[in-house]
Amino acid sequence: MAILVTGGAGYIGSHTVLTLLERGDDVVVIDNLSNASRTSLDRVAELTGRVPTVYIADVLDRQALKIIFADHNITDVIHFAGLKSVSESINEPLAYYQNNVTGTLVLLDEMQAAGVNRFIFSSSATVYGDPQSVPLSEHSRTGGTTNPYGTSKLMVEQILADFSRAQPDFRITCLRYFNPVGAHPSGRIGEDPNGIPNNLVPYISQVAIGKLETVSVYGNDYPTPDGTGVRDYIHVMDLATGHLAALDCQNKGAAYKVINLGTGVGYSVINLIEAFEKAAQTKINYQFVNRRPGDIAECWSDPSLAYKELGWKAVYTLDEMMRDTWNWQKNNPNGYSI
Ligand code: NAD
Ligand code: UD1
Repeated sequence: MAILVTGGAGYIGSHTVLTLLERGDDVVVIDNLSNASRTSLDRVAELTGRVPTVYIADVLDRQALKIIFADHNITDVIHFAGLKSVSESINEPLAYYQNNVTGTLVLLDEMQAAGVNRFIFSSSATVYGDPQSVPLSEHSRTGGTTNPYGTSKLMVEQILADFSRAQPDFRITCLRYFNPVGAHPSGRIGEDPNGIPNNLVPYISQVAIGKLETVSVYGNDYPTPDGTGVRDYIHVMDLATGHLAALDCQNKGAAYKVINLGTGVGYSVINLIEAFEKAAQTKINYQFVNRRPGDIAECWSDPSLAYKELGWKAVYTLDEMMRDTWNWQKNNPNGYSI
């Protein structure tokens, strides 16, 4: 029996694969390495002393999926594979719909053909669009996404809801992640963005290591306590345990579940910079600039359903998130490239 993890070489996938192997699950990974390095999984093997089976292939490749389902006794699929850059999605919408939507359709089709019916999907708080109020619960309004990336996540959720109604024997959980940050406490695996990071924490950590000069803080005139944007940052190891909890509860409750994975606490950009300064014992240069188009003022979760349905809650503090990000950054200044 094994768990199939698509996108398992990526940031959240590699931490989840590690956590699965550590507790004794067998893992099969499919990843086309479009946004990852094979080294992440070599390090997972080094850390756990166990080796996942890895297929370097695309989830759009039906033949590869048929082989995987034929050669392994897959009980569950965790579907991380997809493209995730908001800005890139605006310039390349077809690539985003192809990978994120069609990729999921092909995977579901091949699961059905193989008789595999337990599925966990990587969704995002982006499906809430511009929140009417916070905290966001799973009953909060969705929609109003402003870019193809966000729309692709919402479309897949809708497809999964329809599919679940038609196929009640399928067990499906959509996990809506808030803002994933941090790294494994060993500093051996972490987030390795291509080029100049778009997201706040990788940007701050590259300023701390001296690769970038100054953090541009996008707006200090939001209706938030210090005027900067507020988000629900969650440690990637908490996300990993959230997936294990979702796997364990896949046969309980409703056949189709949508669950927030967040901490329930919002921190501002300035809170993050100060926490990082403390972790890295260095000054982070920053300057206030105009708001980034498409950004919202504040977004944080009501995480109570995850506790109720999965018995899971986030345990890492902001200081631990920044400590582990810095530990990864300082030990791997160029990520997985030597
Ligand atoms: P990531 O880019 O590090 O991981 C995605 C992995 O999927 C990569 O290893 C990539 O090579 C692989 N991949 C992409 N397209 C593929 C395809 N067609 N076939 C096979 N492999 C493919 O991203 P991540 O941060 O680990 O995110 C994982 C998932 O969680 C994504 O679906 C993402 O949209 C979602 N998510 C991420 C965040 C975040 O901030 N990181 C927030 C919410 C949701
Ligand atoms: C972004 C995406 C979201 C995606 C998420 C996870 C946008 C508009 N949204 O969320 O769809 O699911 O990443 O990858 O891109 N900030 C700065 N300076 C920076 C970078 C960010 O001040 O250089 C601020 C932002 O204005 C925001 C906060 O930091 O207030 C967090 O930004 P970021 O890490 O990019 O995440 P989100 O915008 O929440």
